Amino acid sequence: MIKDIILQHIEKVKNISATTKEEIENARIEYLGKKGVMNDLFAKFKEVAPEERKEIGILLNELKNTVQNKIDTLKETIAEQQEALQPKEDFTKPANAVSLGSIHPLTTVRKEIIDIFSRIGFTVAEGPEIEDDWHVFSALNFPPEHPARDMQDTFFVENGREDGNDVLLRTHTSSVQVRTMERQQPPIRIIAPGRVFRNEAISARAHCIFHQIEGLYIDKNVSFADLKQSLLYFVKEMFGTDTKIRLRPSYFPFTEPSAEMDISCTICKGEGCNICKHTGWLEILGCGMVDPNVLEASGIDSKVYSGFAFGMGVERIAMLKYDVKDLRQYFENDIRFLNQFAGVI
Ligand code: PHE
Repeated sequence: MIKDIILQHIEKVKNISATTKEEIENARIEYLGKKGVMNDLFAKFKEVAPEERKEIGILLNELKNTVQNKIDTLKETIAEQQEALQPKEDFTKPANAVSLGSIHPLTTVRKEIIDIFSRIGFTVAEGPEIEDDWHVFSALNFPPEHPARDMQDTFFVENGREDGNDVLLRTHTSSVQVRTMERQQPPIRIIAPGRVFRNEAISARAHCIFHQIEGLYIDKNVSFADLKQSLLYFVKEMFGTDTKIRLRPSYFPFTEPSAEMDISCTICKGEGCNICKHTGWLEILGCGMVDPNVLEASGIDSKVYSGFAFGMGVERIAMLKYDVKDLRQYFENDIRFLNQFAGVI
């Protein structure tokens, strides 16, 4: 009976246990090959009596599907087994490169400035960022209510104290001058890098937090010529030996005389361009001879000693050195910006 044969085959197929590709292929040929069981049964199907055809047809299809499913499952099992045997990791693969990051341009420039001045005998001094009125203003010859206090918009921590010594965020590193002179008698030769704070609207050219480097040199017979020569040395080391300097008279309460120093434009070499607004010059720092009032306020005899001071913005120097157009980029931590400084120094 064809029906029994088919049913037997269905059982048999369900129990096929081929474990290699070859065995599976042999089973496939046995059932689905040209001279295989299926073709044989289909040939016999022609002889089946009409009233049995429907039932036998359904069984034949069931057998065919069973064979096909069995073969598919066996193939999948073998593939899975083989995959399981493959090592998951290739331990011979070289390790992924570790990206090391880079030094922030402001750090690089600060270090370079400190390096340059340390070569002529300046040592690093520091002071607190939260300061008092005395060290930021009064000792630096800003009288109370003096309009010069408005030059630097101050963040106050404690305003309107009875003793007048308000607590505030330092608006410049000149406070470190005072702290150093209070601590130490001349000769004094210090460089004071640090963060300063001003209540200013943030723009491409101004920020409420920025960095300054202060210089102070106090000894007997220190002259304006010493100031000029020291700054010329700095500029040539920092921007190249062909850089020129120019001093313009200016005003700071704590220096007399006071000056602002320009350098010949690093971009156009003094020819005139957009960066220097066609003047050929770029302003880089404020400086002057320390006012005798400041020396006296800090306990130094102004009849015996004299000295010079200067202060510069690190952001500004870095902008000129690396042609950075927008100050905000220093603080945004955009990897695309920072990566440009990988490998600098
Ligand atoms: N403290 C001044 C400023 O912040 C800079 C300066 C320092 C000027 C020392 C003269 C001497 O603008």
